[in-house]
Amino acid sequence: MSYSQETETCLATAVGAAGLSAAELSEDLARTAPALARLRAARAAGSLPHLTIAARRDDLPAIEAAAARLRAACDEVVLLGTGGSSLGARTLQALVGTDTTPRLQVLENVDPVTVERLLAGLDLARAGLVVVSKSGSTPETLSQFLILLAAMEAALGRAALAERIVVVTEPKDSPLTRLAREYGLSCLDHDPDLGGRYSVLSVVGALPARILGLDVEKLRAGAQATLDAALDAAEPREAAPALGAAVAVGLAERRRLPMSVLLAYCDRLDPFVLWYRQLWAESLGKDGKGTTPVKALGTVDQHSQLQLYLAGPADKAYTVLTVEAAGQGPEIPAALAAEAGLGYLAGRRLGDLFAAAGRATAETLVAEKRPVRRIHLAKLDEESLGALLMHFMLETIIAADLLGVAPFDQPAVEAGKRLTRSYLEEAAG
Ligand code: PA5
Repeated sequence: MSYSQETETCLATAVGAAGLSAAELSEDLARTAPALARLRAARAAGSLPHLTIAARRDDLPAIEAAAARLRAACDEVVLLGTGGSSLGARTLQALVGTDTTPRLQVLENVDPVTVERLLAGLDLARAGLVVVSKSGSTPETLSQFLILLAAMEAALGRAALAERIVVVTEPKDSPLTRLAREYGLSCLDHDPDLGGRYSVLSVVGALPARILGLDVEKLRAGAQATLDAALDAAEPREAAPALGAAVAVGLAERRRLPMSVLLAYCDRLDPFVLWYRQLWAESLGKDGKGTTPVKALGTVDQHSQLQLYLAGPADKAYTVLTVEAAGQGPEIPAALAAEAGLGYLAGRRLGDLFAAAGRATAETLVAEKRPVRRIHLAKLDEESLGALLMHFMLETIIAADLLGVAPFDQPAVEAGKRLTRSYLEEAAG
């Protein structure tokens, strides 16, 4: 396994009344068995794309061809999408950072100032577009697309657009597929059965990953290893996502902890935590159930949130997510540190400070009787990120089963979308 999970400090033996008793955890673990059995059956039948996507390779040639076209023609690619259509790309991009060729910008919002700034800084002669929208009708993404499409057509002419723009959407009639057809743009199919927040391993994440030169086969192999380890485990306790779900739901329901903080000690996992936040919130927040996922980054949030976490309301469960850092990074100059009276830093590497801070925070939370799960990665690469993505998708699906909610829809979001549209229709008179 390319990550380890430690849940002992979520138990009463470590955090007293805030934690679960061994019997309670055993009971909750037993309740994950039906969900695991259903997932096993779905894997065997190939009936759930969430479980088959990691083993797929047949889609990669078309994805690679589209990515290669954009890599060759563009210095900068703008990915348009929001929620499940953008956060996967941002999560994967963090593996390589922003100093890539081509550069990838992910445009999620419709704040006019942001879009004006992007347009002002974009060299349209060397720019490309990836438009991701499962439904093909999200007004934010379509508005961005219409603006950029017009700007690119004006700068390059219509004939040049086909080699610069790739659309990822469901193969059905929609405003986006109509536009793509009209302009002769290439379309890669978004699986209709794979919701946005579960789509990162599909073309939705794989296309930006290949534009950035990431190894999608390794990403999927890491995810597959996690899936197989979880579903082939002899008992739920050995299935890491089931254990995570049992602890999370046990703490939420039995200890009434309405919030779950994911505190990552790794800048490259900051977008991953945003991705997790959507996955957990949108999948579980139904029928008055679910817990509020809170995003946090170590060490930065030690200096802004930790006081609350340690001494505020005892209403949160914590996951401290670390990547091996000890012994890594620049060395702190020994003489300068000693001169400044910072002997404990002298000659240490920044990674030593990072690792010590993560460990200290987790232990301090436990000492204050806050339940803490620890997840640790020996290294962060495509494989371990794929493993982590699959872990949290499975954990969420199993948690939904324990809570008795449907993990794959988001019915409440639709009302706001309809109202936005009616306001614009009213204004248009
Ligand atoms: O996960 C989800 O379903 C949402 O976050 C969607 O991805 C988001 O609303 C964007 O929708 P679409 O991909 O249809 O443009």
